[in-house]
Amino acid sequence: MLEKLGRNLPCWCGSGKKYKNCHALFDERIRTAKDAGHIVPTHKMIKNPEQLKRIRESCVINVAVLDAVAAAISPGMPTSEIDRIVYDTTTRMGGIPAPLHYEGYPYSVCTSVNEQVCHGFPSDQVILKEGDIVNVDCSTILDGYFSDSSRMFMIGEVSEDKRRLVEVTKECMELGLAEVKPWGFLGDVGQAVNDHAKAHGYSVVRDIGGHGCGLQFHEDPFVSFVTRRGEECMMAPGMVFTIEPMVNMGTHEHVTNKQNGWEVTTRDGKPSAQWEIMVLVTETGHEVLSW
Ligand code: MF3
Ligand code: CO
Repeated sequence: MLEKLGRNLPCWCGSGKKYKNCHALFDERIRTAKDAGHIVPTHKMIKNPEQLKRIRESCVINVAVLDAVAAAISPGMPTSEIDRIVYDTTTRMGGIPAPLHYEGYPYSVCTSVNEQVCHGFPSDQVILKEGDIVNVDCSTILDGYFSDSSRMFMIGEVSEDKRRLVEVTKECMELGLAEVKPWGFLGDVGQAVNDHAKAHGYSVVRDIGGHGCGLQFHEDPFVSFVTRRGEECMMAPGMVFTIEPMVNMGTHEHVTNKQNGWEVTTRDGKPSAQWEIMVLVTETGHEVLSW
């Protein structure tokens, strides 16, 4: 009787629909997977249509900001100029750069050049020069909804080995994306990424990875790219997370700048690349929200 009543009450997802017409079947599926020993998503990870609409609006800004960077980036430009472009474009469109003041982070964007793995500080001392590869990592808050993606840029002519690293890292991200579908596992994504990187002699950073995103900057689950097919959290419709592998030409090991506590570089000083997209798991597959 209680069960029957519950089925006519509003769904926990906030859609406003009756539970029986919304996530009742979903919950059954999740329970079965959990009973079979799988890690399963929590209700908190599942976005409803209204939330997705707001998250998509945030993503529109994030993509536009990266497009603005792409149009302007060139040799001779200090990375502080990228910070200015990101701040100006984001705020002009009504958003807030999510990195700014995030856990004390002092800039609007991360610009990670060559051997920098992530969280590089924009600086007027860092002048982009021919041959550099740089990751520009943008995140936006719009009315409390978050978006997050990053791209690599090659400055002028870059060496063959750096170009290869950038291209293969993009392929890693795309191969991971191809694994995103409901009732698969985050380990499917991780293994696709890691296998491709390893096949090219590269290594994948282990302890920094992707994350849920949308209602907060960083939500559960943690998305590792060194995991195995069939393992890790099950993917389910309504989950939003990032695929953002950091791929190193040499060792996967990295060091964090002791002075500022943020900037991460490869231990061996060899180059590192990263591409990041934000993706929604749909009923039939996935939708890329920010790139
Ligand atoms: N944008 C990064 C990510 O992909 C997070 C950077 S944290 C910051 O998750 F504070 F440096 F912005
Ligand atoms: Co991210």
